[in-house]
Amino acid sequence: MIISVSGTPGVGKTTVSKLLSERLGYEYVSVKELALSKGIGERVSDEIEIDVDELARVVREEFSGRNVVLDGHLSHFAPADVVIVLRAHPKLIAERLKVRGYHKKKLAENVEAELVDVILVEALEENERVLEVDTTGKTPEEVVEEILTLLKSGAKKRVGIVDWSEAYDEVVQYLMLGGD
Ligand SMILES: Nc1ncnc2c1ncn2[C@@H]1O[C@H](COP(=O)(O)OP(=O)(O)OP(=O)(O)O)[C@@H](O)[C@H]1O
Ligand SMILES: [Mg+2]
Repeated sequence: MIISVSGTPGVGKTTVSKLLSERLGYEYVSVKELALSKGIGERVSDEIEIDVDELARVVREEFSGRNVVLDGHLSHFAPADVVIVLRAHPKLIAERLKVRGYHKKKLAENVEAELVDVILVEALEENERVLEVDTTGKTPEEVVEEILTLLKSGAKKRVGIVDWSEAYDEVVQYLMLGGD
């Protein structure tokens, strides 16, 4: 089974994916590392641009029939059996990305993406089975337990569990309204 773990940058994908793969005895695969090793990622300044069709092809070729946890904010474009979309309060995303030294524009883009459910919407367009998990106020271990319970339950969809519209005022300082 291929389990994609997606979500806004800084939401906790790598932390949760590694733990989840250990708990399940699955291989851990980073989309970024996979793309670099397969030559489908292009370095653009300090980032890597990945063609999502190429990513889907590589994952199909390499991992069909294998048990893997696929970590990355593009992992929902891969042919996964299930997509876990991690969510976190936009303020948490802002604080984490600020600590990482993200510049204002990148910070704003990612906080906004979390606010308006960008990854969730994309995941729903790409995959039949999408399970959303709110990590806010939880430890990575608690998040993994919740994922394991959801997977075991056989739930096909669990979405719409967060609503960040009330969070807007708390993060408006990070947004770039009306352009640069
Ligand atoms: N419940 C939680 N689940 C996951 N991570 C958490 C949680 N609570 C706090 N964290 C922390 O949040 C940070 C998330 O970082 P992580 O690198 O896992 O995010 P990411 O989604 O992989 O980011 P990126 O998209 O840049 O790869 C870590 O420092 C982690 O310890
Ligand atoms: Mg990561």
